Amino acid sequence: MTDSTRTADPKGGSNFSRRAFLQGSGAVAAATALRQQVASGAPNAGVELVQERKSISVTINGKAQSVEVETRTTLLDMLRYQLDLTGAKPASMDGSSGASTVLVDGKPVAASTTLAITCDGKKIQTIEGLGGESPDPVVKAFIANDAEQCGFCTPGFVVAVRAFLEKNPKATDDQIRAGLNGNICRCGTYANIVKAALAVVKGGGNG
Ligand code: FES
Repeated sequence: MTDSTRTADPKGGSNFSRRAFLQGSGAVAAATALRQQVASGAPNAGVELVQERKSISVTINGKAQSVEVETRTTLLDMLRYQLDLTGAKPASMDGSSGASTVLVDGKPVAASTTLAITCDGKKIQTIEGLGGESPDPVVKAFIANDAEQCGFCTPGFVVAVRAFLEKNPKATDDQIRAGLNGNICRCGTYANIVKAALAVVKGGGNG
């Protein structure tokens, strides 16, 4: 309890202020009203559901399309559950693992913490866009250097390496390690990921 909710008691103790009493009684009244609504059996009593939907235009891996999403839909959910692009992974919903990394207008973002509606009019590149019949040099280097890790964190690493080398085509070992610090797994073949990135630096294939 803070001082602002107490008043001095002339008899030496303390008691609640009028403000604290009113706040408390208001909360009790609200809770009582909610209990009564629930008891009455009214559907979703006391709860207002917001399910607004919007249509957004995005270019994903070079293909322009419009997608209808709820305003609360994350980019990751839109990709995985509406467009069947399951490369980006829901490993950490706060984005701390980097497993959901995709590029939005060329910048790496955690799709798990990005609202789909904020991508309206933007270009999105996912791991799927780096594969195909002629894979990106980063994908080839991951394979050649046995840098696949567990598979779950790998797509985020590949996309992060691609974005980092795009901006830092002459990156050193230390710079690559620093540049990948948003992708936290070090438990598998992490050393080989750095080797793969260095191989791309040495062999070209950036930008
Ligand atoms: S989470 Fe993929 S190797 Fe650790």
